Amino acid sequence: ARRALIVVAAGSGERLGHGMPKACVDLGGRPILAHVLQRLHGLSRGLDAVVLVLPGDQASYDQLSAVGEQFGVAAGVPVFFTRGGSNRSSSVRAGVECLLSAGAADWDPAASTVLIQDAARAMTPETVYARVFAAVEAGAAAVVPALPVTDTIKRVHPEPHPDTGAEQVEETVPRSSLRAVQTPQGFTLELLQQAFAFIGDLPDAQVEALTDEAMIAEAMGVDVAVVPGSESAVKITTAADLAAAQALLQSSEP
Ligand code: C5P
Repeated sequence: ARRALIVVAAGSGERLGHGMPKACVDLGGRPILAHVLQRLHGLSRGLDAVVLVLPGDQASYDQLSAVGEQFGVAAGVPVFFTRGGSNRSSSVRAGVECLLSAGAADWDPAASTVLIQDAARAMTPETVYARVFAAVEAGAAAVVPALPVTDTIKRVHPEPHPDTGAEQVEETVPRSSLRAVQTPQGFTLELLQQAFAFIGDLPDAQVEALTDEAMIAEAMGVDVAVVPGSESAVKITTAADLAAAQALLQSSEP
């Protein structure tokens, strides 16, 4: 059985507003991507390859590939780099293609596990990666880590009220059946290859709407297993998230 990890770090970081790709943004003195990699050292003996999907601009690419190279040497894991695309799915696809051309072409697709991690979930603990690997290796073709939802979630009508312009509640979705899904999401290499063949036939607008890879598995009718996620694995999207990650970092340091 082979294990690979693809970290997608090619997002623009527009909502964070630092004028640079999110993975490059400083968190406690290091770029966000460095925090992701730092948490992988304990797993690294079992990892056959790491692929970093990086932003297209040369300065960011150079900065982040240097971070990746340092990790590869320190952890003893082969690290490969590629540039991402204009949406998340195309970045993940670039990562899978890079993995295949970097040597995974001769891996047994049914016996190889690939995890896809958002660079934006900088503080994801190693235990979550371990859980996802274990669940795929125990026979699930697609696995997502998730937490119960604590907010009450309501669905609204697609159109605002014609007179007031306010959004209108359509229904309350029973909270006990909701989960907030995180990354890393895990798949057999075989399923990932099938997934990209499947979305190859979809119109662009539908591909743009895929916010994770598990959605492709769902659309294909493949069962997706859920394992416990982590409170620490929050996604850094806004300035407030970055401040929260900073606080978490300080409180977790001795
Ligand atoms: O934009 P969002 O926060 O949903 O992005 C989730 C992850 O996907 C981030 O880690 C981001 O770097 C990555 N991404 C990417 N290529 C894109 C868009 C997002 O690698 N074109």
